[in-house]
Amino acid sequence: MSSYLFASSPCSVSRFSLLLGSSLPFFGIKSSAPRFTRRRHTSKSWAHLWTRSSSKLFSALSSPPPAYDDVIMLGIETSCDDTAAAVVRGNGDILSQVVSSQKARRLAGVFNLPIVGVHHMEAHALVARLIERNLQFPFLALLISGGHNLLILAHKVGHYLQLGTTIDDAIGEAYDKTARWLGLDMRKGGGPALEELALEGDANSINFSIPMRQHKDCNFSYAGLKTQVRLAIESRKISMEHNPISLANLDDRRSRADIAASFQRVAVLHLEERCQRAIEWALKIEPSIKYLVVSGGVASNKYVRARLSHVVENSGLELVCPPPSLCTDNGVMVAWTGIEHFLLGRFDPPPPADEPEDAMFELRPRWPLGEEYSQGKSEARSLKRARVFPSLTSMIQGSVQN
Ligand code: KG4
Ligand code: ZN
Repeated sequence: MSSYLFASSPCSVSRFSLLLGSSLPFFGIKSSAPRFTRRRHTSKSWAHLWTRSSSKLFSALSSPPPAYDDVIMLGIETSCDDTAAAVVRGNGDILSQVVSSQKARRLAGVFNLPIVGVHHMEAHALVARLIERNLQFPFLALLISGGHNLLILAHKVGHYLQLGTTIDDAIGEAYDKTARWLGLDMRKGGGPALEELALEGDANSINFSIPMRQHKDCNFSYAGLKTQVRLAIESRKISMEHNPISLANLDDRRSRADIAASFQRVAVLHLEERCQRAIEWALKIEPSIKYLVVSGGVASNKYVRARLSHVVENSGLELVCPPPSLCTDNGVMVAWTGIEHFLLGRFDPPPPADEPEDAMFELRPRWPLGEEYSQGKSEARSLKRARVFPSLTSMIQGSVQN
């Protein structure tokens, strides 16, 4: 039996720090990094990123930075296919640092294994076929995560039509921001914390307006809802800084729960309305469609699942929603998508074992999955975001023709 390696192309960047030893409290850093289009992978660039993180740490402590000799921090940065780790002492001594560029490629090169490049959002969609073996193409998919809101018509593996996308923020980002502003415990993620608090609140207490109703398409927008939430928080005199909900009195907690529930109702209503229209469009394009797949981190939310299952029932389709552990980012979805492509003969030969660390790779943040459905083109979006890369679908079709 042979083994194969699969590489994913995630679109998000994150970094974490862990305290290895100290008499001081725990300090963690997490922030979004700049989006790259093309970058040379050198330890210098990682050092630069690390320096940006560390300056945030020190400014959070006090200014100028104190020399806390007894603090030893492990920093781990992962972005795309890279991982960098360093151990640094509070006085600025770098005790150790390593950078591993294109993790998957290095392993494939060293062990002489073929490699399959996997689009992160395609993996969210296709993992549904691992769960529901009857799920045949074509199908409709709503993919909702921290960075994406996509409605796609999946014709076959590697061939997608984009019916809608977000013109600004994704729903997961709106959940995370709202949770942070409400002072929720973010350790298990903003989305799950907000979902839990919303159970205590009155979802009709605040009448947030539903985004983009005047646009009769399948695109999304969450930036405006975020602003409405912020204003609601401010008007209730809830501090958005250093105000953990664990310290809130009963009235304050109730007020935050009402905001959480009202936000969630409208955020999900926006999904419902867009899905309703997407189902109509999809059935016109491909009348044989039987399934709506809902996947991505936000699809693990019970309220989201329940509301979308009503939409789907009313339209005579079936909902396929992977279990929460396969909705949020996971290795299974990448491996499964690798299998789907591999079985169609789409994979690359093993990279050279001695591929240099600083080889050039093209990173494609926000790489589209498919071409846009002409009716779905949004004037609002084209003003905001120019397309940078040809879609996965057009690249696969181009290579088949060649
Ligand atoms: O797909 P994913 O794991 O990572 C990305 O590709 O972004 O999605 C992460 C997003 C985060 O914004 C997280 O807060 C959200 O999914 N999320 C949830 C829930 N679980 C995760 N949002 C709402 N309710 C949840 N239960
Ligand atoms: Zn994801």
